[in-house]
Amino acid sequence: MSRDYWEQRYQSKDMPWEKGAPSPGLVDFLAAHPDLPKGAVCVPGCGSGHDVREFAKNGFAVTGFDIAPSAIDLAEQATAAAGLQANFQLLDFLHAEPTQKFDCIFEHTLFCAIQPNERDEYVRAVLRWLKPGGLYLAVNYLECDPDGPPFPTTRVELLERFSPHFELRADWVPRSYPNREGRERMFWWTRRPVSV
Ligand SMILES: C[S@@+](CC[C@H](N)C(=O)[O-])C[C@H]1O[C@@H](n2cnc3c(N)ncnc32)[C@H](O)[C@@H]1O
Repeated sequence: MSRDYWEQRYQSKDMPWEKGAPSPGLVDFLAAHPDLPKGAVCVPGCGSGHDVREFAKNGFAVTGFDIAPSAIDLAEQATAAAGLQANFQLLDFLHAEPTQKFDCIFEHTLFCAIQPNERDEYVRAVLRWLKPGGLYLAVNYLECDPDGPPFPTTRVELLERFSPHFELRADWVPRSYPNREGRERMFWWTRRPVSV
């Protein structure tokens, strides 16, 4: 989907993904793993930045990317209002050349938001932006209407796409927003030094 498509969704306030709170799965994961190294985190497709602020609250140096100018404006305003520190950049995560490499990428409703035929490009983007050995943490929205975005996926598809490049440490059904209960799955991947 184009930058204009997403910007229009923000301008017309047609944002059903906006829940006013971070991903419950992320909140629980960070609470359960207080000893994660506090490296540089990237949240692509960050929207208004709830997940970015959750990382910031937990002491991470975090950067949110979004393709829609209005999303970046909302994210910057809400982060300043919360008295938190984070960076936000207007860019196309799938096609931009990395300005830095991250220790961790957090996925939440970007993989399902892009066109399914862009998923190869998405995996290549994660590999460009993430350091070898880095953490790829994902809350994947599996079950949604086929007329997306969001577009559905399956655990099998995700394993096929990511296993050649990432070692799966764990996957589970996370706590979710009320309308997504049981429809999301969380994946904790570590990037292999060399893809198999
Ligand atoms: C479904 S929304 C989810 C927003 C946020 N992750 C959340 O859960 O609230 C998808 C977001 O991805 C952004 N987006 C779509 N394609 C993108 C791309 N290629 N690069 C960066 N952001 C993108 C959209 O502008 C939108 O903010």
